[in-house]
Amino acid sequence: MASSNVRPESMERITTPALAEAFIEEQITELRAQIGDKKVLLALSGGVDSSVVAALLIKAVGKQLVCVHVNHGLMRKGESEQVIDVFEKQLGANLIYIDATDRFLDKLAGVDDPETKRKIIGKEFIDVFAEEADKLEGIRFLGQGTIYPDILESKDGVKAHHNVGGMPEKYDFELVEPVKLLFKDEVRVVGKALGLPDGMVYRQPFPGPGLGVRCLGAITRDRLAALREADAIVREEIEKAVSANTIKPIWQYFAVVPDMRATGVENGRRRYDWPVIIRAVNTVDAMSATVPEIDWTVLKTITDRILAEVKGVCRVLYDLSPKPIGTIEFE
Ligand code: XMP
Repeated sequence: MASSNVRPESMERITTPALAEAFIEEQITELRAQIGDKKVLLALSGGVDSSVVAALLIKAVGKQLVCVHVNHGLMRKGESEQVIDVFEKQLGANLIYIDATDRFLDKLAGVDDPETKRKIIGKEFIDVFAEEADKLEGIRFLGQGTIYPDILESKDGVKAHHNVGGMPEKYDFELVEPVKLLFKDEVRVVGKALGLPDGMVYRQPFPGPGLGVRCLGAITRDRLAALREADAIVREEIEKAVSANTIKPIWQYFAVVPDMRATGVENGRRRYDWPVIIRAVNTVDAMSATVPEIDWTVLKTITDRILAEVKGVCRVLYDLSPKPIGTIEFE
């Protein structure tokens, strides 16, 4: 039983499908023993950790798992749809989908300080999730996608390890954390063995506050819509170029839309629209990062597509700042 928070030295690293299958079988037995006939609640973001936990729990206890997917309106293009498609349609999960877009965007209206934005998004998320928990009966367990680096970092005091951190005290749930002794690469091998799609298993890191910290300053719906479209183009073109071996894989790559406008011209008419900034970095631990030299033709294709396809954008920039001094995110 993986009740200890210490990874035994004898534990083999999960690097192959066969080792992943063995881990999955072991977890199914352990989860069934822990959960019995009770219900488990899980906040399912669509990130690899919560997705793997959901898939394991579906195998172990089926409909006793209740997944809640909160769409805070700051998801990337197609993300919530993928969660519904994979978990509800393909895996038959008990999934509650909450579109809380208006609620989040109303709370964020006019707020331009990045840390305040983060706090609002975090608090609102807990509130929405807790309201759903209140509507459900007989929930005994809370599933969490805690992984081993979370445990190590919380032990070192770097950060508190609570993926759904901040659930009010009154929720006396017992935690179910089946991947808490695994490193990220092992979670991915397990996710692949569970049959999750590559887009989910190899998903690049995405901050909890989502596009909220990439739509700089006070978020507006029109700028957020432009960001979502531009970001989808950046991801699509970079992934296409990686698949074609035009460029090497990149650790994190996305679009940012600042809260300023720039002058442009089209068919002799002046425009005054937003720039889109492309941010791409390579890193090992996200503490420092370098900027890849993306092939010019790829940058050009991204630029041409954004300028042609995204409403309200008249410039595309590539950020050359390493970390330090620039952080990976802009906010
Ligand atoms: P920075 O911007 O600090 O980012 O260089 C380092 C890594 O952390 C991610 N990041 C976040 N992740 N909540 C998250 O879950 C956040 O508020 C947050 N801020 C930054 C960022 O995407 C990068 O991978």
